[in-house]
Amino acid sequence: MAVTSPAAARSRAASSLALHGGTPVADAKIPLVSVALAEADIQAALGVLRSGMLVQGKHCAALEERFAYATDARFGATCANGTCALQLVYEPLIEPGDEVLVPAWTYIATVSMVVARGAIPVFCDADPETYCIDVEDAARKVTPRTTAIACTHLYGNPVDIDGVEALGAAHGLSVIYDAAQSHLARWKGSGLGAFGDAVTYSLYATKNMMTGEGGLVTTNDADLNKSIRLLRSHGETEKYIHSRVGYNYRMTDVEAAIGLSQFDRMIDLTAKRRANGAALDRMIAGIPGLKAPKVTPGGEHVYHLYAVRIEPEAFAPVGNGSARALRDEFTRALNAEGVMTAIHYPRTLTRQPVFEKPGMDHPPVAERLAETLFCIPVHQNLTDRQLAQIGESLHKVAEALRG
Ligand SMILES: Cc1ncc(COP(=O)(O)O)c(C=O)c1O
Repeated sequence: MAVTSPAAARSRAASSLALHGGTPVADAKIPLVSVALAEADIQAALGVLRSGMLVQGKHCAALEERFAYATDARFGATCANGTCALQLVYEPLIEPGDEVLVPAWTYIATVSMVVARGAIPVFCDADPETYCIDVEDAARKVTPRTTAIACTHLYGNPVDIDGVEALGAAHGLSVIYDAAQSHLARWKGSGLGAFGDAVTYSLYATKNMMTGEGGLVTTNDADLNKSIRLLRSHGETEKYIHSRVGYNYRMTDVEAAIGLSQFDRMIDLTAKRRANGAALDRMIAGIPGLKAPKVTPGGEHVYHLYAVRIEPEAFAPVGNGSARALRDEFTRALNAEGVMTAIHYPRTLTRQPVFEKPGMDHPPVAERLAETLFCIPVHQNLTDRQLAQIGESLHKVAEALRG
């Protein structure tokens, strides 16, 4: 792959930033995500539309079976989205009033659905390099009322599963993994579905595998699988016979057909993301002040997002001198060079108005991540030229902001 040499990138960076009127590195914007259906996906959806059998049916069943098998789980259940997937698992495993260990650094749904269940989220800090839950901090926060740990395989990077499983076993906790961002990630040679009580997925349009909206749950527990299926469809055991209160959280066969069609390409698409992640790692290793994400030892990262950490000490102060001001200037400059970025996430969950309470602790590592992380493109449709342009832009902006 053609990657610009560090020397060439440095001399380029010496010229003015596009942010200040210089020539951008990339002649066309490099998007952060690439959402496009293949012709085969469209044909698969059309086939279902033409059949007239639009609701949950054989395509959902096939997707459940293939997804569970590919992730080393016994059972799979499709559902309407990743938030429903969490609810379908939390309801049988968590009781109102329980304390549940959760990451302070994740997408809100992992935690908001704990609250929707009537349980109490106990916020745990993040690992500063893998960004996943800090299992030692979680261990410190166990009380007699703790009944579960619900944590996220974040950005495509598996959490320290050995640590979480040991913690769960030591205290008799239910273990739920949110893998909304981590389809086909692996842990020590096994699929993620081999671990915990259940694993939840989102198939939202921007995810590594997607059906537009959609979700999926896997488990190895036959009773839990039964509960999930009942909850998904109004507790219906036979036509109009309802054994419990449930919901309509069903996926449609139109969505499942898109997912199944994509599934044929998932191994290749995942390999491309992993190769792009490795290329970005190599580029960032040559840029003082930027840190690549660390793969959790034992894990296989699938790079839903590539989150770079900026070390403010390596750069000249910007604006009010805060880390956040520097990070924001860095991303503005990258955007002007043509590299699109995103902040996942601008604040910790403990700083979200819905959860913040006077006097509560704000986990310090997660707080720092909110000020210093930014995401750059790593998606499966990046070209070698775009990857080289990302590397060149990172060099150029870093040199210009070094002062
Ligand atoms: C970690 C995580 N959990 C849960 C969800 C919720 O998934 P959905 O948007 O499909 O409801 C998301 C979606 O972005 C997510 O990133």
